[in-house]
Amino acid sequence: MSKPKAIVTRKWPVEVEEKLTEHFEVRLNSSDTPMSSEALCDAFSNYDAVFPTVTDKIDLDVLSANPMRTRLIGNFGVGFNNINIEAAKECGLVVTNTPGVLTNATADLAITLLLSVARRAGEGERHLRSGDWSGWRPTHMMGTEVTGKTLGLIGFGRIGQATAYRAHMGFNMPIIFYNPSTCPEKTRESLDAEQLGSIEEVLERSDFVSLHCPARPETFHLINSDRLKVMKPSAFLINTARGDIVDEKALCHSLKDRQIAGAGLDVFEKEPLISRELLDQENVVLLPHLGSATNETRIAMGNKVLENAIAFFNGVEPPNRVA
Ligand code: DGY
Repeated sequence: MSKPKAIVTRKWPVEVEEKLTEHFEVRLNSSDTPMSSEALCDAFSNYDAVFPTVTDKIDLDVLSANPMRTRLIGNFGVGFNNINIEAAKECGLVVTNTPGVLTNATADLAITLLLSVARRAGEGERHLRSGDWSGWRPTHMMGTEVTGKTLGLIGFGRIGQATAYRAHMGFNMPIIFYNPSTCPEKTRESLDAEQLGSIEEVLERSDFVSLHCPARPETFHLINSDRLKVMKPSAFLINTARGDIVDEKALCHSLKDRQIAGAGLDVFEKEPLISRELLDQENVVLLPHLGSATNETRIAMGNKVLENAIAFFNGVEPPNRVA
């Protein structure tokens, strides 16, 4: 029996690419060049499965492929806001994602940002590398103590909980959170966490606010100028979720005017473009969307895409179907 035809939009870890070739007649992207909208649209006419990632916009134009050959979109990523899900459903496509396997890596990175911005690690490294460091002194580059400070989470799913676990167990941080649905008592109790009724209450009481909600129309600019004003002037904002959950312009103002103390950002509104205003701020730590970027996790993400695709083409319900 012939293998289904599949296309991978970006370079994947070699271990997973090798496995892919066992199960699919696959076109890889060894040069890792991003595909244009036209090339993506063509792919939907020529392949049974398309394996995009979070930076590929699978929008109405791309899904207007005629003829439409594709039956499965296996997204390399847990977030799938890059895909117009309604349009994909209308085309009769099945869509899968990669939950679970990037929880620890992303929570680790949220804590990396939290510590880095609180302890001015980015600033310190720039200072040292520039040759300006004149030696230890009692008042040099003093930061903020993390231990015992309150961590507020917006969104308390897998990654939010894993971040809370690290903060609570490692740094004795009291945990408060906002989540649209009620979190099971057992989970709350295990972290001594308090679920609050509004985002504002979390912002008001937190020393660190970490965002862990999905990008949806209702979470667009969830953190806006009004909400930033609710945060303590000594508080820090951490974002490892999606860039457009935060109004970046409002955040820049708030950082510049010291309405909040700082921010740690792994995701941005117009990736990979970062505004000059943000680049010029010292009180912000900026990372290039590294949340899931460990060898172990990226291999596991690829394996998840593969697992879902194998199930689908064997006529079995894919375990991580989102549409
Ligand atoms: C995701 O999977 O959604 C991340 O943003 C990339 O790992």
